Amino acid sequence: MNLKNLKGDVLELGTHKGGSTILFAKYLQNINDPRKIYAVDWFKGLPYSDEFGNTDEKKKAKGRLNDTSKEFVESKFKQFNVDDKIIVVDGLFEETLYEKLNDKVFSFVFIDCDLYKSAKFALEYIDNHLEKDGIVFLHDYSNFLNRPKYDWGIIKATDEYVREHKVQFTENPIAHFQKITSI
Ligand SMILES: C[S@@+](CC[C@H](N)C(=O)[O-])C[C@H]1O[C@@H](n2cnc3c(N)ncnc32)[C@H](O)[C@@H]1O
Repeated sequence: MNLKNLKGDVLELGTHKGGSTILFAKYLQNINDPRKIYAVDWFKGLPYSDEFGNTDEKKKAKGRLNDTSKEFVESKFKQFNVDDKIIVVDGLFEETLYEKLNDKVFSFVFIDCDLYKSAKFALEYIDNHLEKDGIVFLHDYSNFLNRPKYDWGIIKATDEYVREHKVQFTENPIAHFQKITSI
């Protein structure tokens, strides 16, 4: 998997406190890669409950993970010296992706939004905003090291997407797919 020949920036859908964003940004800095990371979240906790989550906890998830804010992540990005690599996009995917990022094409996307409804929308957006050979990583999908499979609706949204689109899907160790067609 070599993204060096791809041009697009990086997109993170689900940022919460910015931990994974900082990790990606540090990696890009270390390999002198000029790509920016667009980090999208509304920073108010999970916006919906997960209709397709497998447990009661997931079905009542609305409002969880609300211990963050745009100001919090921006100060963390400064503290870790990665603020020049990251563009924070504050808002629901449904209200920001086509409105603010419709002219963008990405080479690498990390989807970490747990919920069926959010992942479904995110994957539809990505369909027209991922370049050929670009990669999408899906958090909360794999049963890495034989741990029980997670039970968020993102699994169902991913399975539906992979069934309906021409992509090359790999489940383990971390679920991801590569786009094999042009936009
Ligand atoms: C598990 S957290 C992300 C964790 C983060 N990537 C990390 O590794 O630290 C999931 C995030 O997805 C966000 N999210 C879920 N659905 C969303 C939507 N439709 N629009 C915006 N943000 C959403 C939530 O606000 C939450 O912060």
